[in-house]
Amino acid sequence: MAESGIRAEVIPRHIAVIMDGNGRWAEQRGLARTQGHQAGVESVRATVRAARELGVAWLTLFAFSSENWNRPKAEVDTLMQLPEAYFETELADAIENGVRIRTIGRRDSLPASVVRTLDEAVRRTRDNTGMNLVFALSYGGRGEIVDAARRLLRDHELGKVDAEALDEKSFAAYLDDPELPDVDLLIRTGSELRVSNFLLWQIAYAEIHVTDVLWPDFGRRQLEDAIRDFQSRERRYGLTSAQVRAGAGERS
Ligand code: IPE
Ligand code: IPE
Ligand code: MG
Repeated sequence: MAESGIRAEVIPRHIAVIMDGNGRWAEQRGLARTQGHQAGVESVRATVRAARELGVAWLTLFAFSSENWNRPKAEVDTLMQLPEAYFETELADAIENGVRIRTIGRRDSLPASVVRTLDEAVRRTRDNTGMNLVFALSYGGRGEIVDAARRLLRDHELGKVDAEALDEKSFAAYLDDPELPDVDLLIRTGSELRVSNFLLWQIAYAEIHVTDVLWPDFGRRQLEDAIRDFQSRERRYGLTSAQVRAGAGERS
């Protein structure tokens, strides 16, 4: 066991984070909400680096929801500038450290400049084999499932899928990123006990860690707290505790 009390052999494979509380963080300091979002970029940097160093294989960050489009235009405009600000320094870090950037969400609703920034990051890290870093932008879980159903229906019309053969695995292949594994640990900062339309399909058996810490105050130490919390859970997947202790139903 490392000094941090984290057991290296049970690091969650996929951590997903609802990065919430930027606005409250700013309001508490008499700042504009947009300054909270800018401060939040530093937390993204710190969290990505810590996750990579801890050996997390997949990190998915909820950066902008499909519902966030309904916020005041000035706030949306600021949020749309953040990917560029982030990748300005962190793309080089990702390239150097083998991080593969991916995105999920409705790309066609994002400004062209954001799409260009994301495309470049995805393209330049495509062959990396280290941590997968997924940005959920203009993303909603229900929208993703509907989009998957639409693609599936198109394939069905082309005679490529058989309705009777459809199962969870073949359906999941139509989601935004078919390689995105199930979430092991879902972290939400900023206290709210809700899912807010994030990764509805992939969180089916996620362990959930909600912290009062606001996103701009989140970093390595808080990520380690969340992982320690995760490591204290017994994941039963519907079995009894006795079955789990006997090693039944083990998942990879
Ligand atoms: C999270 O912080 C960032 C986004 C949703 C884009 P908020 O802006 O929701 O912060 P609070 O919840 O108002 O404090
Ligand atoms: C969820 O936070 C979306 C992101 C963190 C990007 P919100 O602040 O939008 O969630 P609600 O509105 O409180 O549910
Ligand atoms: Mg919020």
